[in-house]
Amino acid sequence: MKFTKTNDLREAYLKFFEGKEHLRLESFSLVPKNDKSLLLVNAGMAPLKPYFTGLQQPPRKRITTCQKCVRTGDIENVGITSRHGTFFEMLGNFSFGDYFKKEIIPWAWEFITDVLELPKDKLYVTIYLDDDEAYEYWTTLTDVDKTHIFRLGKEENFWEHGAGPCGPCTEIHFNRTSEIVTTAEEFLNAADEDKIIEFWNLVFTQFDGDGKGNYEKLATTNIDTGMGLERLATIMQEKNSIFEIDTLENILNEASNLAKVKYGEAHKIDISLRLITDHIRSITFMISDDVMPSNEGRGYVLRRLLRRAARHGKTLGIKDAFLCNLCDIVIRDSKDAYPEIEAKKEYIKKVIKIEEDKFRETLDSGIEILNGFVAELKENNKKVLKGADGFKLYDTFGFPMELTKEILEDEGLSLDEDAFHEEMKIQRDRARSARKTSNYMGADVNISDAIAADVETVFDGYDNDTLSAEIKVLIEGDDFAETITEGNKAIVVTDVTPLYAEMGGQIGDTGIIFNDSFKGNVCDTKKNIGGKIIHFVEVLSGELKVGDKVTLEVDRTRRESIKKNHTATHLLDRALVEVLGSHVHQAGSYVSNERLRFDFSHFEGLTEEEITRVEDLVNEAITSVTPVITDVMDLQEAKNSGAIGIFDDKYSDKVRVVKAGEYSKELCGGTHIDNTGKIGLFKIISESGIAAGTRRIEAVIGKEAYKLVNEKKDLLKEITGKFKCSEKELLNKLEQQVKELKEKDKEIVALKSKFASMGLDDIVACAKSIKDINVIAYELKDVDSDALRDVCEKVRDKVENSMVLLMSENAGKVIICAMATKDAVAKGAHCGKLIKEVSTILGGGGGGRPDMAQAGGKLPGKIQEAINESYKIVETLAK
Ligand code: SER
Repeated sequence: MKFTKTNDLREAYLKFFEGKEHLRLESFSLVPKNDKSLLLVNAGMAPLKPYFTGLQQPPRKRITTCQKCVRTGDIENVGITSRHGTFFEMLGNFSFGDYFKKEIIPWAWEFITDVLELPKDKLYVTIYLDDDEAYEYWTTLTDVDKTHIFRLGKEENFWEHGAGPCGPCTEIHFNRTSEIVTTAEEFLNAADEDKIIEFWNLVFTQFDGDGKGNYEKLATTNIDTGMGLERLATIMQEKNSIFEIDTLENILNEASNLAKVKYGEAHKIDISLRLITDHIRSITFMISDDVMPSNEGRGYVLRRLLRRAARHGKTLGIKDAFLCNLCDIVIRDSKDAYPEIEAKKEYIKKVIKIEEDKFRETLDSGIEILNGFVAELKENNKKVLKGADGFKLYDTFGFPMELTKEILEDEGLSLDEDAFHEEMKIQRDRARSARKTSNYMGADVNISDAIAADVETVFDGYDNDTLSAEIKVLIEGDDFAETITEGNKAIVVTDVTPLYAEMGGQIGDTGIIFNDSFKGNVCDTKKNIGGKIIHFVEVLSGELKVGDKVTLEVDRTRRESIKKNHTATHLLDRALVEVLGSHVHQAGSYVSNERLRFDFSHFEGLTEEEITRVEDLVNEAITSVTPVITDVMDLQEAKNSGAIGIFDDKYSDKVRVVKAGEYSKELCGGTHIDNTGKIGLFKIISESGIAAGTRRIEAVIGKEAYKLVNEKKDLLKEITGKFKCSEKELLNKLEQQVKELKEKDKEIVALKSKFASMGLDDIVACAKSIKDINVIAYELKDVDSDALRDVCEKVRDKVENSMVLLMSENAGKVIICAMATKDAVAKGAHCGKLIKEVSTILGGGGGGRPDMAQAGGKLPGKIQEAINESYKIVETLAK
């Protein structure tokens, strides 16, 4: 057998199908686009769904890929079995209304027997029960042993995934043993025991299923084949497990070295090693596709895999964070097929390290707590851990629920999951939008998404702002329409347009659409799910019919501002890399006519100096008045030229590279100005964090930046006006004022304490001894009740054996406070009783304890009378 190395196998497959006129596309991102039904791409055909459903035209009718995939449905089995993994690569070839069974069956046979030289006597084929056509092609166009063909039912040989394109399939299997299988029953048994393994599934995608067993024939017949690369490598390398093939074995060996353990000696250790080997691949690839660990959606899948792997590393005795280094092996062995992992190496390592460190910090305490729970359950003969306890581990120690479950399962225990989820619900105040799966693409069907695939809409607005076009489709409300009239709001699709549809962060153009008898405003331009350009039009006058000729005109001033903002965004991207480092990658952007927003990967807030430096660099690029040139070139050529950027349109033959001299080179489909000088001025207005490891910069340019500078200037003017000084003098003046204020503060403090002590002496001086109690009754000026109480307390503490009564006029009323020392109380002093009588004189009421009382009155004019009376009142109270 040939091509035993996994990397060679991949190449052999793709080359073979290129030889059959297939367009080779790079793997799509693991993060699905426009497909809410999937968290992560789980099959080669997943990113190609719009081509099967006819929503989009494929770049060629024959495509071949090796697609990175993540599946977590069988995660419990990973490590335990020899073939389960969360990460795998799927080799696939696809036909969209082109070749069908007659071609794919002999090609598949040719590939496995001629190219791979798999022994024919080991190969078996299964077909769908009544698929006589497939049987005929297998038996007439290949030399497969007829006794090796079995007809199986819907369960085995009809491929469908919820609603959507589906069809019968034929599968190719490899017999790993020398046992001869002669009946379908024997075949199924051997497959159950892993003696015979399926490795290639050829799906004849010819129906559109509704998910309930009803099938309609698709307009075209298609082919979707899928072959797990790792599984094929296991056969080619004559191994028993995917973990023993070259690429995975390298990871596993490194993990064993780090843990100082040997593979194959102890079952538990082997499970951990296999699990780590698999998970680090998913982790590395997910991060390279910009998934960040979080408690939501795919971020949670990543977090769960990472923490699970970290925990198993710990169990193996690995002391420090290790996943952040283990990913080096994944990157080294897979970088040729997936250059993005090499390009983002430092970033991937950093994200892993941060998450791993964070988890390791709490891992020990979490395990200790969990062990405590386990002991308690066992002591009480209980089997189920309370949801609240499981949730505590999740919330406080970062234990994903599944991790807690796994550890409990090892101990023969379980978790009350319902209660756990209940706790989660209570705790979560963040709104979580549940994933909707309303149709095959997981999106709500929108009428504009149903525009036929053969409607051509071309954007020709890079160099034009006015174009003649023909009306292809009109949509009003929820229906296609033949005519739209004055007062309508409608979606208009033309064969060609100069208006840019919102994409890659750049907002859609606005403009006008007209002919001799019609005028409308284009309020926005977008793309539908199938990539058709749709104009949102408000009809101002006249009528428009399908087939009419119109002129489309872009709002030039607005477009010009958008262009400037877009070019400035490229300069900002470049400046950020220069100032912060090569780990900076674009994570999103918004480019409008008024401002720009740029999200990027970085781990901490920018310092003032960094912000200034970035701003300076962008402004230097602007003042260098550099021509901005767009070249159209091959994707590979673009990559070789060092162009950066998110590349959306990966299957076009040609890509656009926007260059601002040598400073910035970026893959971009947006519109740009022709010289950096036109941007005028660049000002950052904010820098903030939007998610772990992702920062956001908002900025303005040109007129808006000028406006911002002017606003600041006006503010400065207002300030200098208030300070009555020139701008130059302002700083000195401010410093001087601050100094003066400080001095004044000091003075105030000194004065206050002097005043307070002076006041106290005056108050104390009016003490009268009544029946051996020092009675003090005094009026304070303009104090509030807190101050009154405070002074009352001070006087009482200063004078032994005292009873103090203080009053003050406050906001037209009287506030009263009385306090007595313990020894005065022992002699009959009673603040409550005193205050009751005093407040009656003052037109109020109140009372309180013997040692302290407060009250209020309404007659400030009677304060002096109240003071005079108070001595008499004490006379009657005292013993
Ligand atoms: N869609 C099929 C699978 O996932 C063949 O590619 O197995």
